[in-house]
Amino acid sequence: MILPVYLYGQPVLRKEAEEVPRDYPDLKQLVSNMFETMYHADGVGLAAPQVGLSLRLLVIDGSVLADDFAECKDFKRTMINPEFLERSEEEEAMEEGCLSLPGIHEKVSRSKTIRVRYWDEDWQEHEEFLEGFAARIVQHECEHLTGHVFIDNISAIRRQLNRGKLNSIIKGTARCSYRAKAVGK
Ligand code: NI
Repeated sequence: MILPVYLYGQPVLRKEAEEVPRDYPDLKQLVSNMFETMYHADGVGLAAPQVGLSLRLLVIDGSVLADDFAECKDFKRTMINPEFLERSEEEEAMEEGCLSLPGIHEKVSRSKTIRVRYWDEDWQEHEEFLEGFAARIVQHECEHLTGHVFIDNISAIRRQLNRGKLNSIIKGTARCSYRAKAVGK
């Protein structure tokens, strides 16, 4: 089932997300719905707050980017209660977008490599070292779990330049090709 994507301005995107409990009902169905929602919107990652649920859960499929970023080949993951074990001091700036901020693309500096621990939808524990764009996607999605969005990282001037677009997202008048839930609508 395709879920509406909560857009910038929705309070759920500003909340610290809760740990997913082991007995969370219909977790696999939720994961499946999140993948469907993400694919429908041509995204490569989606965090639970973006579908209105303040939970430490995210889905990723970066495989469409494999031509440009080899590290994204077969990079399809469900991450429950993810936690960074390491983030490199060395950073790299690259352009990002976000399904909760349609039409906005900005360069963001992030760690080049990370080590992350998480559980999958079968509650198997994983520890993974990631680099490049795969590491970037995980950092972007994990940021959603802390009540932040990627434009929080850009300069005040860049944010100012995007003010019109941000206002139209909040008002619900921004162009968006998928089912979305704006504050103003
Ligand atoms: Ni995002």
